[in-house]
Amino acid sequence: MESKKLEHQAVDRIEDVFGEHTGYRRAHARGAGCKGVFQGSGQAARLTDAAHFQQGTVPVLVRFSHFSPEPSWTDAMSPVKGMAVQFELGPKQVTNIVSVTSPVFFTRSPERFLEMLEVSRSFQKGLPKLAELAELMTDFPEVRAMLASVQKMTVPESFATGVYHSIHAFYFEKGNERQAVKYVFEPENGAEKMSLKDMKDVPFGYYENELAERIAGGSVYFKLYAIIGEPDDPTDDPTREWPKERERVYLGRLQIETEDDEAQQALYDPTVMTEGIACSDDPILQFRRSAYRYSHEKRTAENTKDSPQD
Ligand code: HEM
Repeated sequence: MESKKLEHQAVDRIEDVFGEHTGYRRAHARGAGCKGVFQGSGQAARLTDAAHFQQGTVPVLVRFSHFSPEPSWTDAMSPVKGMAVQFELGPKQVTNIVSVTSPVFFTRSPERFLEMLEVSRSFQKGLPKLAELAELMTDFPEVRAMLASVQKMTVPESFATGVYHSIHAFYFEKGNERQAVKYVFEPENGAEKMSLKDMKDVPFGYYENELAERIAGGSVYFKLYAIIGEPDDPTDDPTREWPKERERVYLGRLQIETEDDEAQQALYDPTVMTEGIACSDDPILQFRRSAYRYSHEKRTAENTKDSPQD
């Protein structure tokens, strides 16, 4: 019998560890869908012909999320927040950027991801025990970058005021030239943060409600930049951030206009590209394709059987 793809095993293991939550995404389970527009600046036209990065406006679906696979975890138990953006370039033609409020991921290898899931069973009940964290540090030294970033970490006060990183590298392509880039979204009115300590008093669902209020009071805006990689910057290692001083190119302005259920249900596969942009060979990025599709298939089948989703 053919054994299950590693990507499917990973999603099944997330369910083993964090429980089965019918109708929900198997990671970033709870969140809020929105619609808006992206206005391209045209400033990257020398690097890519991608339609949304020329001057002009394209519609977008956006979903903000808490990273936890367990939808009943409080907002505070998910200090990392996500923002997935789908650019609608034409009939049945989309491209996605899926980003989070951490600049690094905790492993560069899909196999290690599965091993780490085993160790992180203790996260189920909230924060892990110190002894288990120590074990993680010894057995998985690559996790240090992420833990260091979590220690320094403040949490955005709102989904609307987070700084969101693509983590992976991508290539802008034009003619025979290609340029490695990473993406970062910055809130137009500045990042507002709170400490992990203050975060603990935040009530369940605060982020979704607060976002709805902001949207009702006017649009929410982000600026999207491409960070321009230099020849020695790794393009296959999501545990390593590129140096802060790298040149950035302003790609355009994202405007969130309304809440939207289609955006809440959509699939944001981070490997769906368009002409002028290609995925890097980062094994974690490549791995995400089948994992996201498998989770989407499961939740869609469950939802059409009448299971509610938030
Ligand atoms: C081994 C690596 C990873 C695995 C197996 C994995 C797995 C998943 C799965 C199964 C989903 C739910 C997909 C769906 O039902 O549509 C998801 C969502 C998500 N993941 Fe990952 N993930 C990985 C790495 C990452 C990384 C590196 C990032 C950082 C950018 C990330 C950010 C997100 C976000 C923001 C969502 C929510 C997307 C949405 O709102 O639809 N993941 N992940």
